[in-house]
Formats: sequence, structure tokens, C-alpha cells
Amino acid sequence: MNHQLSDLSPEGLRTFVGEQLERSRARTVQLTDAVDTDDLVKQHSKLMSPLVWDYAHIGNQEELWLVRDVGGREPLRQDIDELYDAFQHPRADRPSLPLLGPVETRAYVTEVRDKVLDVLDHVKFDPEKLGADRELVHNAFAFGMITQHEQQHDETMLATHQLREGAPVLDAPPPPAGRPLPSPEVFVPGGVFEMGTSIEPWALDNERPAHGVHVKPFVIDTVPVTNGDYLRFVLGGGYQDPQWWSEAGWAHVQKASLVAPRFWSQVDGEWWRLRFGHREQLPLDEPVMHVCFYEAEAYAKWAGKRLPSEEEWEFAARFDPSSGRTRRFPWGDESPGPQHANLGQRHLRPAPVGAYPAGASPLGVEQLIGDLWEWTSSDFRPYPGFRAWPYDEYSLVFFGPDYKVLRGGSFGTDEVVARGTFRNWDYPIRRQIFAGFRCARDARPEEVHAEELHA
Ligand code: AVJ
Ligand code: FE
Repeated sequence: MNHQLSDLSPEGLRTFVGEQLERSRARTVQLTDAVDTDDLVKQHSKLMSPLVWDYAHIGNQEELWLVRDVGGREPLRQDIDELYDAFQHPRADRPSLPLLGPVETRAYVTEVRDKVLDVLDHVKFDPEKLGADRELVHNAFAFGMITQHEQQHDETMLATHQLREGAPVLDAPPPPAGRPLPSPEVFVPGGVFEMGTSIEPWALDNERPAHGVHVKPFVIDTVPVTNGDYLRFVLGGGYQDPQWWSEAGWAHVQKASLVAPRFWSQVDGEWWRLRFGHREQLPLDEPVMHVCFYEAEAYAKWAGKRLPSEEEWEFAARFDPSSGRTRRFPWGDESPGPQHANLGQRHLRPAPVGAYPAGASPLGVEQLIGDLWEWTSSDFRPYPGFRAWPYDEYSLVFFGPDYKVLRGGSFGTDEVVARGTFRNWDYPIRRQIFAGFRCARDARPEEVHAEELHA
């Protein structure tokens, strides 16, 4: 989770790993215990797996990597590997598979975890004692990968909860209140910065290696676009006017008959949104969520702006102009606390804009980490020097023009995942994820000039 973990003693690392495994499991249990057996096994949307599939898949990946590979132990249930291989069966087909039932699933993941804790007790973290699997065990990477995998599926299960119909079953306190912003936009001077990482012990393959990137001066919104902002686009006929949409976006908005973000509805001129089973009046100062890439792109054009590229997003989030250094997070190098960012399902919605002044970047950009994933204009591509590791199916098979990059993490992303370097990706039509966006624009010559005088 942080590079300080490479300073831990083998015993300290063992304790830390144990805590992370326990935290992810507590969340998985909470998300699956919250619903009855019917809701566990049924498919709430063609876009999602039955919750019980995610649950057993979490256990199966843990068995593959930690029991069999790192632990060198005998397989527990080799017979089910194929059922829980995400590449064998698309999500839509998963309900018709002979899946383990809820009782069997719970017994299986518990049995796997018991074995893993035993592996953890015996694994040698001392660098000089690492064997052939040196890289997998170094800094407990495989354990970090598996605890992140569980947290990522927990966020996916949270999205399934959002799609589930019926009375609310999840609850959490509201996030902190917003505040007026010092300014709506921030000038970012550009320059060369170090993007990605070669030193975060638990960074996944697509975040590596660190490499220099040149970014031109640009201007970025201080905070994500709000429901109130977006409502003006909706009311202004944005969904009916092709001039705001890319060709692919316009084709999609018509084919899918989109008229507003997903989970919005209008009754007698009032706007409502559905949130984990609660119907609420649309909160105007909260970042807009459940919009696809095409909607984000169209809004930005309507606003006279554009989406930031992934490079610009990371520059704004991590670059510290006073030192020229790239930081781990907007606020510095320390791991996220509740004062910095809305993460970890602590709240079940994004916070109103201005709620996290302590999470601002040195340039004054806010709410980059947490609240919601932010669509960028970039396709998901490997960084120069990329090496698929430890398996091709995490990133490599997804690179290319079909997927757009999202950055920053949502209220449903755990801090073990939400690194400043973390890259998420999805199809540009997807809306069920907890995603929104902020706008950017090229800096005007006079803005660049004013900054040069100032510097
Ligand atoms: C990184 C969120 C796109 O859920 O498809 C889970 C994470 N990879 N199991 C996904 C993942 C394998 C992945 N995303
Ligand atoms: Fe998975």
C-alpha cells in the first residue's frame, strides 16, 4: 500500500498482510451477508455476475496464487477453476453455470483463507531466503495483489448492489459537507514529470515503470463536474444536439436512448436519483455519477472544454512544482486518511464539492482521489517499458483503443487500491461503475504568459 512497507521487518510485513487480508474479507462478508440467498445467486443485471460468483472467484484467485503458487500446497478444488475463470465465461452467462451455492461458497473461501494464513505464517520474506518465486514474494507482492483483487471485486459487488432492486440493505454515514471553492479552475504549468511508479511495492503491472512525460500547460477544473452543472446540460437539450457528441457518442446516445445519467428520474419537473435503494432529490453540489465516457465528452464540449488526458490528470494529481518531484498522492506521500479522501465505502456516495480541502494537490486541485472515478480522454495503453506481470490477463489483454482510462478511485475503492498511480479502464459506454469526470482545457497564451511573469 505504501513504499514504507518495504522498510518493514519480515514480521512487520506478516502482520500488515494479515490486517489487509482481514479487512478485505470483512468487506466481502458484509456485502454478501447484506442480501438473502435469492439475491446472492440471482443476476441483478446482465452487466454483472451473481454476487455468489464474485465471492467464489475471490476465493479461487486466492487459492491459485497464494495456496498453490506461493504456498506450493496441493489444490483444494481444481475442479472449479474453470467456472471461476473470468475469461472462460462472460458475465451474462455466469448465472447458468453450475456454480457453488452460498453455503458451499462460504465454506470454500473460508477453507482457502485458513490455508493462506498458514502459508503466511511460514513464508520467508527475508530477501536472502526467497526462492524461485522471489519476485512474487518480495514485499509480499502476491498477497498485496490478492487483497487488492478482493477489494476490486468488492467495488464491483457494490455496483451490483446499486443495480439491485428492492429495499435498501446498505447504510453508511453521509460524507463531510462541501465548501465554496477558492476558484473554479486551476492553471497547471506543465513540464516534464515522472509518471507511473517503479517503487510502489504493490503497484500492479500497468502502473509501471516510472517514466518521464512532457505535459503542456493546461487548465483543469478544481473539482469534478456536479449534478447541478450537468443538469444544465440536460435541460439545455444537450442529449438532443449532435454538435456536442463525437460520432461514436452520438450513435450510442441514440441507440441506447440516453436522456440523462443512469439512476436519474424526473417527476413533475423535479429531479431524483436512486442510490442503493433510496430515492433522493438530486443533490446539486455532489459530483455527477453514472455517466459514460461519451456523456462526459459531450458535456465537456458543451462547456467549451475537454476531458483531461491521463497524463494531465496524473500531473495535476502528483506533481509538486516547488520541489519538481512527483508525490504519491495529491496531498503528499502519506497514505490516505479520512481527512484526505472519500474512500473505502466509508460513505455510500461522493462528497459534495469542496469537502476535502486537506486532500488538495500543491496546485490546489481537489477531490482527485476518492469520491468517483474520473474518465480521461486516454485509451488504455502500456507505459514505455511495460512488462506483463505476473499474468497477462490483468492488463495486457485489455490494452488498445476499446477501453478508456479512469483515474482516482471512488467512494467504493479501498485505500489499498487507490494509489496515485492506479489505472482503471472500461468501455466508453459503461455507466454502472461509480464514475464521473472533471473538465480541462488548453491554457490560453495570456494565461501561460501571466504565469511566466509570476514565476
Ligand atoms: C481493473 C477494475 C478493470 O474488474 O475487470 C478484477 C479488476 N481484474 N479481476 C476488473 C480485476 C481481475 C478489473 N478492473
Ligand atoms: Fe477477478
